Amino acid sequence: MEDKNEWGSNLSFILAMIGSAVGLGNIWRYPYVLYSNGGGAFYIPYIVAILLMGIPFLILEYGVGYNFKSSFPKAVRKINSKCEYLGWFLPVAVFMIMIYYSAILGWDGIYMILSFTKGWGADPNAFFATTLLHSTDSYMGLLQFLPVIAIAMLVGWVIIWFISHRDLEKGLGKVSKVLVPLLFVIMIVIVGFSLTLPGASIGLAELFNPDWSLLGNFNIWMAAFGQIVFSLSLGMSIAFTYASYTKDDADLITNTISIALANSLFENFAALGVFSILGYMSLQSGNAVADLVTQGTGLVFVAYPTVFNVLGNWALVLGPLFFLAVYLAGLTSILSTIEPLSFSIQNKFGLTRSKTMSILCVVGAVSSMVYATAFGGSLLGFVDTFINQIALLFGVIVECIVFAWIFKAERLVDFLNSRSKTIKLGKWWIIIVKYILPIFVSIVWIGGLIDVINSGTIHQLNFTIVSAAILLIATLIFTLLPSKNPDWDKAEDRV
Ligand code: PHE
Repeated sequence: MEDKNEWGSNLSFILAMIGSAVGLGNIWRYPYVLYSNGGGAFYIPYIVAILLMGIPFLILEYGVGYNFKSSFPKAVRKINSKCEYLGWFLPVAVFMIMIYYSAILGWDGIYMILSFTKGWGADPNAFFATTLLHSTDSYMGLLQFLPVIAIAMLVGWVIIWFISHRDLEKGLGKVSKVLVPLLFVIMIVIVGFSLTLPGASIGLAELFNPDWSLLGNFNIWMAAFGQIVFSLSLGMSIAFTYASYTKDDADLITNTISIALANSLFENFAALGVFSILGYMSLQSGNAVADLVTQGTGLVFVAYPTVFNVLGNWALVLGPLFFLAVYLAGLTSILSTIEPLSFSIQNKFGLTRSKTMSILCVVGAVSSMVYATAFGGSLLGFVDTFINQIALLFGVIVECIVFAWIFKAERLVDFLNSRSKTIKLGKWWIIIVKYILPIFVSIVWIGGLIDVINSGTIHQLNFTIVSAAILLIATLIFTLLPSKNPDWDKAEDRV
């Protein structure tokens, strides 16, 4: 293959996109979001969010990415030469996600090893917060380096480098074709087993018990839209970059629908597993499911080890499988977070894929070491909130304006429809991407901003400002550095 940045087949593209979408958000975020936002009733805003935002927006991001067959800033620059800055903003923000995602991957790697002997001991909560992370919310924690965490994270970076520095199809394409199906198979085994546990039905009844009264509550609609943005990796320039790597015959509309379906299938399946296990735990401990349910690191690194402690020998199989599933889900997602910035740097500075990936992995690994300190856990929470609630939603709004309005979404309709074997786009699609989406996401964005300002601690506000400064300055540097590639101003229009 001549082009080092091209998928070998449509299957590689779809599986890599599913790999990016299916990540920690599906396993540790979604079950809790579903439960705490009306249970069964949540499906109404959830499905509306997929149909109104997830699928239409992905089609737009894919369509424009496919059209330009170039990196995000190069395309944005071609659309409007004054907007290059906006083009670098998203790839840099996504690379910042990569840096903290690598810490979670490292923690999970440690748990994968511990799970063979239930090495977290009798008190998983104390083990995670104190023994492993030495967690403190004082700045001084930044001076306390944690070598075990650092080593686990570096192992992750070596794996990422090993896969990413190869040509696209030989690395990411091939790996996605193996790891994504493997992840689905492991998840089927885990969930199948969980459903047979005594008490599973208690957990599931609790999960799905619909609270219809919540449907009138604006918050559950925000939660549904927030979940879809995060889970489908919308507005992150990832879908854009992946689509620009496709060959000429892709049916992007059908691909989008397959990816959204696979992602929802996976997260709803994960919810069955999580709540069966919590039901079992509730039966064993006598505590109500409502008292056990949690999300994020609390679910994966505390609630699950607690369950494995009471599960007997089964836990010695289920534990490693579970942490492996989380590792694979995290790995296939983190691999996607380096692609937008890498491709952008290759395009602007004329570097090879291999060299760019090597530089980015070293920069990422070194920067990620701030998370291998006693303040790392708190810091991760602050940066995550900033990126997800503020930076990325802003990205969706920017993409809607630049792509739907300035580039003009109308240009894509005939071309996308001519390749589509399923749904055809009509006026409804234009109305969604030009009006409904930017207005709705702006409302959610302002809500998130107010939330951070009102409810954030002083530490959170400080680190939000530091993260924003790093993001804005790095973006500025990439924009101002002179291009070394004569092709930088020559993005092609395929449509
Ligand atoms: N979509 C991923 C998930 O559900 C998260 C992710 C965010 C992946 C950003 C890549 C980039 O966990």
